[in-house]
Amino acid sequence: MAETTTKEAKQPPAAPQGSQLLAKKSIDKLIAEAEHPEHRLKKTLGPWSLTALGIGAIIGSGIFVLTGTAAAGENFTVPSILHAQVMDLLIGLVRHGNTSSVLMHGRPAAGPAIALSFLLVAFACSFAGLCYAELASMIPIAGSAYTYSYATLGEIFAWIIGWDLILEYVVSNVVVAIGFGAYTKAQLASFGVNLPDRWSTPVWDAGHWTGAYFNIPAFLIVFILTVLLVRGVRESAEANNVMVAIKIGAILTFLVIGGMLVHPGNWKPFAPSGFAGVVSGGAIVFFTYIGFDSVSTAAEEAKNPQRDLPIGIIGSLIVCTILYVGVSIVLLGMMKYPAFTSGEAAQAPVAYALQHLAANKWSQAVIIIGALMGMISSLLVFQYGQARIWYAMSRDGLFPKLFSAVHKKFKTPHWSTWIAGFAVGIPAGIFAVSEAADLSNIGTLFAFLLVSLGVIVLRRTQPERKRGFKVPFVPWFPLISVVLCVGLMSGLLVITWLRFFIWLGIGLVIYFFYSRHHSEFATSNRV
Ligand code: ALA
Repeated sequence: MAETTTKEAKQPPAAPQGSQLLAKKSIDKLIAEAEHPEHRLKKTLGPWSLTALGIGAIIGSGIFVLTGTAAAGENFTVPSILHAQVMDLLIGLVRHGNTSSVLMHGRPAAGPAIALSFLLVAFACSFAGLCYAELASMIPIAGSAYTYSYATLGEIFAWIIGWDLILEYVVSNVVVAIGFGAYTKAQLASFGVNLPDRWSTPVWDAGHWTGAYFNIPAFLIVFILTVLLVRGVRESAEANNVMVAIKIGAILTFLVIGGMLVHPGNWKPFAPSGFAGVVSGGAIVFFTYIGFDSVSTAAEEAKNPQRDLPIGIIGSLIVCTILYVGVSIVLLGMMKYPAFTSGEAAQAPVAYALQHLAANKWSQAVIIIGALMGMISSLLVFQYGQARIWYAMSRDGLFPKLFSAVHKKFKTPHWSTWIAGFAVGIPAGIFAVSEAADLSNIGTLFAFLLVSLGVIVLRRTQPERKRGFKVPFVPWFPLISVVLCVGLMSGLLVITWLRFFIWLGIGLVIYFFYSRHHSEFATSNRV
């Protein structure tokens, strides 16, 4: 996968037509470059490997970390409009003409109906998945949404998506690393090794300092993976298949062991906050599905991308949905949902429930170690992906050249990899899960939204271009995707939206003060 993006660097930019903001890369040139014998990647991935790749990226820590807190909801001691859901706020404004009715809400509990949230999100993601599949089959070039938008919508959109993808890759990995730390701590504790809380828990949680100094396990795993990635160690498809098998094995073991500890009474009430709880839970657990789009980054290594990319994207979504719904039903049957409100139960609910109900130590270890391996593979794929996206953006001139510097000996983009390592490791050492997951969700949903719109735009602007896979019922399916993405975004809190706009604002400032002037298109204009 490492070499996939290098080809674009050598391609001279097409002279921009009109404004530089809307300047596009030529799809034909991108494809011709990709097929050039010097750059052509080995096409080895079939539908199974592509599906496994998707599952490898999708199942990280989310299912093991977020299911509990999403089901339990959150109550804020200090009522604030910042912690209201955007959807509630809008409804309050329409119905009552003011926002006072939403101040106290916090986040409603989904309860055991979190299983419905998983289904709802899978439904929403499948529409976005179809849109990714069409663009990936039309532009089978690595780089995913960033490359699609540079080739189709123009430079400013490519920048916005590239900048936004940092939320998907960096911030989601912060969450996975925090989950890894919490699970490692819980697992070591079950073997009698107690890590000091001050050095193994978040420093900042739910709006206050906790008294902890730094979450070393969360930092350390990212640091170690960074060293490996800089040295050029990367997942092959076979290694990924093995990791995926271990992950699925751990989840199936949990379904059996946890299933024996279920008390059906815990499933009542099923949906304590009704549909609002289901949507709000969905906005949180959306995180667990992030990663299916990464199948599209393997476009150049697929044997038959036009047929197999859609299979990989939709197939991995289906498998993960079945596993996620199973885990949530079992977990919420093991303990009543309010048990997961705070502390270790909120941070590592699967481990907590198994320990609390005194499940067999060895089966616990199998599940937790399997889960930890799964988290490592997901962390690795995303760290790798982030460094490559920065690498591509740097080659295009949108990021400083440092980001595309290649290590002399290891031939990896070492600066990008180290920067990604610290950009993930340091926040992982400081923050708690919920804040970071929400930000990652809004960023990814926004990318899905743009990709869905991209399908509609391209059907109009380039109707003749060959598409191996076509989204049915255009523009309706992409529009449904847009509506569902916006719906899930509206389940997130006002503060998450604010952080998101601030993030995009910072991105636009950087674009207008730096990237625009250093872009390939700008430099080719000067020549
Ligand atoms: N979907 C990935 C996870 O759940 C990011 O960890």
